[in-house]
This record gives sequence, structure tokens and C-alpha cells, in this order.
Amino acid sequence: MSMDINAQKRASAERAFAEIEDGSILGMGTGSTVDMLIEKLVGQSRIRIEGAVSSSERSTQRLREAGIEVLDLNSVGELDLYIDGADECDPMGRLIKGGGAALTREKIVASASRRFLCIIDDSKEVSQLGAFPLPIEVIPMARSLVGRAIVKLGGHPAWRQGVISDNGNWIIDVHGLDLADPDRIESAINQIPGVVANGLFTQRRADVVITSGRWREPSAG
Ligand code: A5P
Repeated sequence: MSMDINAQKRASAERAFAEIEDGSILGMGTGSTVDMLIEKLVGQSRIRIEGAVSSSERSTQRLREAGIEVLDLNSVGELDLYIDGADECDPMGRLIKGGGAALTREKIVASASRRFLCIIDDSKEVSQLGAFPLPIEVIPMARSLVGRAIVKLGGHPAWRQGVISDNGNWIIDVHGLDLADPDRIESAINQIPGVVANGLFTQRRADVVITSGRWREPSAG
């Protein structure tokens, strides 16, 4: 019998839990799959978590409710392990993230970590990135400027109205971008003044992908 989507997410969260070592300081992503991992940390006795660096106010709140200390990245240096979900993942472990508007802090914590475990359900696996609209966090006064630059790159920007990121910025979702070369597009978007971060994770991609509990090391490239 096939698993429903929540069972798939839970299977991935549980497989990631098995990777956490006693005394770890974890990097913690954001989203419903990560929430399941945080739930799993409550009331278990296998490991003691030293603390976590959080990628969002949402995860911070859940971590605190779980009794896990939330630490400032500046005071902990490099992390051993970052665990997070994604909106899309290609065979090389390159990702689109930011569906929950947490992309900037996610990219920071992922980049500060030696190993990135990406926990997803079957629907997130794609042969090529780009069906999911690419989120970009922008400084509010630059929204139109960034939008015009995105049109020149071939995309169709849509302002995610009413959403303010944890950093006080706005989110643009870009539809229709050609992401055959996502590494190039990640860099190109980063060059636009007013862009804080974009949701392509190609330079800091996943080292391991766990899809519905199945472990996969991405292909090189
Ligand atoms: C948050 O901004 C996103 O990058 C999430 O990691 C992504 O949306 C995954 O969310 P779910 O675990 O809820 O599918």
C-alpha cells in the first residue's frame, strides 16, 4: 500500500532522526517535515540535543516548546548537521526552497553546516527544477527593480502579497524561469541589487536526500 504524503514526510523525518548523534548542535530548517522531526525529538531518550540553530521564527517556537535550546549562529561556528525540507529536489541534490518564506536563514544555516540532509516526500523529486515558482527575498523598496530584472532573465515575477519574511522583507515568486542551468541562475539573481537571497540551493546543495524514508546520495555534477 502506498504511503500518504504525511506518512512519506514522517518516514523521512524518522530516518533523519536516526542520523543525529548524542550531544549534537543541529541546524534546523523550516516546514511541516521539519516539524515532524522536532516532534520526534520530544519525549525520546536515545539522544540529548545540546542545542539548535534555527532557520525561522516558526521553528524557533517549536524547538523551544520541545525544550531544545535555540542558539545564535554567531556563537557556535560551524555546525555538523543541517536538516531541512525542500520544495523541489533534482537528481544532483540541487533544490528550490522558500515556499515557507524562510529561504534566507535556511541558506545561511545550510551554508554554515558540514552536512545537509534534505528530507522530502515523493512529490518533491523532479528531473529538472523549475515547475515550483522560485522564491526570492527582496528589500521592499527594490521589489519593482528586482521584478524588471527577473523579466529580463525570462521569468514572470509575482509579489507574495501580505507575506513579510522573518527579516522584515518581501517575497517574489518567479514563474516560468528556464532552470536548465540552475547554478548560473542562482548567481545571476544574486547580482541584482535589492535581492537578499533566492531559493535556489545549487552552490550549497543537499549532501544526502531522504525521500519518504529512502536514503540517496545525489549524483555528482
Ligand atoms: C521553507 O521556506 C521551505 O524552504 C521549506 O523547507 C519547504 O517549503 C518544505 O516544506 P514542507 O516540509 O512543509 O514540505
